[in-house]
Amino acid sequence: MKLGAPRVGVVLGSGLGAVADAIEDPVVVGYDELPGFPRPTVAGHAGRAVLGAIAGVPVAVLQGRAHLYEGGHVEALRVPVRALRAAGAEILVLTNAAGSLRPSVGPGSLMAIIDHINMTGVNLLVGPNDDAIGPRFPSLRDAYDPELLEVLRASARDLGIALAEGVYMAVSGPSFETPAEIRAYTTLGADAVGMSTVQETILARHAGLRVAAVSAITNLAEGMSDEPLSHEQTLRAAQEGAGDLSRLLLEFISRC
Ligand code: HPA
Repeated sequence: MKLGAPRVGVVLGSGLGAVADAIEDPVVVGYDELPGFPRPTVAGHAGRAVLGAIAGVPVAVLQGRAHLYEGGHVEALRVPVRALRAAGAEILVLTNAAGSLRPSVGPGSLMAIIDHINMTGVNLLVGPNDDAIGPRFPSLRDAYDPELLEVLRASARDLGIALAEGVYMAVSGPSFETPAEIRAYTTLGADAVGMSTVQETILARHAGLRVAAVSAITNLAEGMSDEPLSHEQTLRAAQEGAGDLSRLLLEFISRC
């Protein structure tokens, strides 16, 4: 079967794989058939690409991503973003599960990312630059595309879905944060914390993709509630928020 070029690439985070179920006439390709793609090691990450259309818009949905904490080859983070761009995608939608630093934005909330702070200590553009992909010193002003953010807002409004907005702090993990770190990150201006997304945003902006990103808030950050943090709790809460996130993404993509 011949597939058209995707216009929108979507990366689904932990426990959020359900979004791919909405694809019409899906063609599923396992990451093991895609050179350089990650071999997921984390529960909740399927490791496959689902190609097809959502409301007539050609999409490539990636179920599963590499994380810095997996300690594998960082090419597994670079390759999927650059492959989407090379395949013709213009827009990259990133999703993740995240902890909230705002007491009013609790588990089950969705948060549009309006900016990020990269606390991972890593930037995957370090090394020789491939000028054919993008510039040596890409700008990260408006890393989260203001027009796409407006489309997210309008989609949420029309669906009656509450959509918070905030700054995503990326940490490498895999340990969760200490309460002191969370207090520090709050002071630094973070609204949510998680272990993914910013590397993909940096790679995407470098390659000229426009980025929209949404966090599914799975917990209040460490020290802000009595509930112990665990990956199982993250997956459970992400699945609970996945319904609204699917509906939001489908509406958003139909407007792209
Ligand atoms: N911290 C880091 N990553 C996360 C969290 C958190 O509290 N929740 C979900 N992913």
